[in-house]
Amino acid sequence: MIRVGAVADIPDGEAVVVQGEVPIAVFHVDGELFAIDDTCSHQKASLSEGWVEDCKVECPLHAACFDLRTGMPSGPPAKMAVRTYPVVVTDGVAFVNPIVEPSVPTVPATLVADISAA
Ligand code: FES
Repeated sequence: MIRVGAVADIPDGEAVVVQGEVPIAVFHVDGELFAIDDTCSHQKASLSEGWVEDCKVECPLHAACFDLRTGMPSGPPAKMAVRTYPVVVTDGVAFVNPIVEPSVPTVPATLVADISAA
């Protein structure tokens, strides 16, 4: 587990980045924490610098939106999901588990079908 910090120190609607094997952005939204890859699946912008609304973050570079709960993009230009990570809060301090479950898909099933049909 990677220590993120005190939940009270992460403003609502903001994110902090911790370093796992890759940078992980931990977002604070309406009292809940969500951890996703900080790097956009499109062209490597930092999602922690994006805009948060309705539990989604909009990439600051080309405006693809990602669901903070699932990592799924809502539309172009991003086609691949970003990974999500479990967050645990103990005594007001947040920790993120940087281990990616191998069964977690990073490509939406509909996009897999589109790719295989090409
Ligand atoms: S870099 Fe994120 S949408 Fe292009």
